[in-house]
Amino acid sequence: MASPLLLSILLCFNLSTVHGAGNGSFVTVPSSSFEPETVCSGAIVKPEQNGSTVYVPLVHRHGPCAPSLSTNTPSFAVMFRRSHARLNYIVSGATRGMETYGDGKKVSVPAHLGTSVNSLEYVAKVSFGTPALPQIVVIDTGSDLSWLQCKPCSSGQCSPQKDPLFDPSHSSTYSAVPCLSDECKKLTADAYGSGCTNGKPCGFAISYADVTSTVGTYSKNKLTLAPGTIVKNFYFGCGHSKSSVRHLFDGLLGLGRLSESLGAQYGGGGFSYCLPAVNSKPGFLALGARRNPSGFVFTPMGRVPGQPTFSTVTLSGITVGGKKLDLRPSAFSGGMIVDSGTVVTGLQSTAYRALRSAFRKAMEAYRLVPHGDLDTCYNLTGYKNVVVPKIAMTFSGGATINLDVPNGILVNGCLAFAESGQDGSTGVLGNVNQRTFEVLFNTSASKFGFRAKAC
Ligand SMILES: *[C@@H]1O[C@H](CO)[C@@H](O)[C@H](O)[C@H]1NC(C)=O
Ligand SMILES: *[C@@H]1O[C@H](CO)[C@@H](O)[C@H](O)[C@H]1NC(C)=O
Ligand SMILES: *[C@@H]1O[C@H](CO)[C@@H](O)[C@H](O)[C@H]1NC(C)=O
Ligand SMILES: *[C@@H]1O[C@H](CO)[C@@H](O)[C@H](O)[C@H]1NC(C)=O
Repeated sequence: MASPLLLSILLCFNLSTVHGAGNGSFVTVPSSSFEPETVCSGAIVKPEQNGSTVYVPLVHRHGPCAPSLSTNTPSFAVMFRRSHARLNYIVSGATRGMETYGDGKKVSVPAHLGTSVNSLEYVAKVSFGTPALPQIVVIDTGSDLSWLQCKPCSSGQCSPQKDPLFDPSHSSTYSAVPCLSDECKKLTADAYGSGCTNGKPCGFAISYADVTSTVGTYSKNKLTLAPGTIVKNFYFGCGHSKSSVRHLFDGLLGLGRLSESLGAQYGGGGFSYCLPAVNSKPGFLALGARRNPSGFVFTPMGRVPGQPTFSTVTLSGITVGGKKLDLRPSAFSGGMIVDSGTVVTGLQSTAYRALRSAFRKAMEAYRLVPHGDLDTCYNLTGYKNVVVPKIAMTFSGGATINLDVPNGILVNGCLAFAESGQDGSTGVLGNVNQRTFEVLFNTSASKFGFRAKAC
């Protein structure tokens, strides 16, 4: 028997609910929260070192906090198409590295680095060289090697960018990596090399899935992450030729698992980031050992054969509006790559269909409208409030995250999940679901951490 006190609490609770909202499994959100804000707001994130961790602000490159990188923001349809191409590329398991030709000779093919640059969304400002010059770089968990566009780059050879092209000849701490060095050998082994001859600098080349490519000199220079926090010899590619994409940022910071990545070069043990709920707020990138990792839930980190850049989590369950989906663990057996650059999460077939049907049922009060490749989008115009079911993802080991409502669940009125492939294939945990969590990639301990409400 429930005590009278408990009963009266339950009664009160029930009276205050609106259409089932507020019972803990649904959240009523004002529809104004779906409109993009035009002013940068929220807690200021400063680049700074705290203990052994350095924090660098991250902002969405098309949001009002960005240093006006783009004059025309791509439509949601365009953004989604790019993101979906990235997802397809990743889950197709495209391997990179050595390719065998007809004569049996193995040739290093730098053209197999997956993903695409133009789908990347979050940028940071870091400084290269001496004097330290600020550069706007996209972060990418799907790349290892970082790069900047550098002089000389004859007109039309580099993408237009806002800052002046980085000039290595005016940077006193710059040097090209020699061809016969261990670093150059490693670069070649990791399939980012573009060959070199003795006495010449080490070449690098990266081709992305969106037919962008960057080619140039493997280099090292001082990298300043925050005042007083530097990587003395940061290895990166100085790109003298760059094709295709008019992206307007100056370069890229690779956060993959190979030794060329920023995470490996700074501390080596891992990194974390927090992507903000909305594009009008800043998030952060954090590097270095964490003294006190409190507030995190942890789950084991896995890998995908043939794709050494990526790290995975494995789901064990999904809860929608307080009800656990009836799914066997085998529905999630392929794992999910945690990716900063894919927008909409890709789930395996059976899991996606169960999620979609539970979500549609929970949202049946609203008009379902088709939207290109996404099949669960709503027309929410005309509603003052929208009642959104909570979605919880439980990972192997029991770590559970409650996705932010509504910004971790809905993007442009669409459920931020899509079907990515058959059961057993690898899925991708996209960046909408990751919003507001500090996502910690602890590569030395091989575990992922998630901390709620971190930005
Ligand atoms: C919360 O309310 C919704 C809508 O009335 C209902 O479907 C759901 O079962 C409720 N959840 C719990 C845990 O009571
Ligand atoms: C540094 O970290 C400590 C412990 O996490 C925190 O209490 C303190 O506020 C932080 N300092 C700054 C300047 O952010
Ligand atoms: C990773 O985990 C190890 C062991 O728990 C810890 O010592 C280390 O600081 C962690 N690294 C990061 C980046 O959190
Ligand atoms: C959404 O609903 C409004 C109001 O009913 C309507 O005017 C508008 O055309 C609809 N938009 C779409 C994309 O269906």
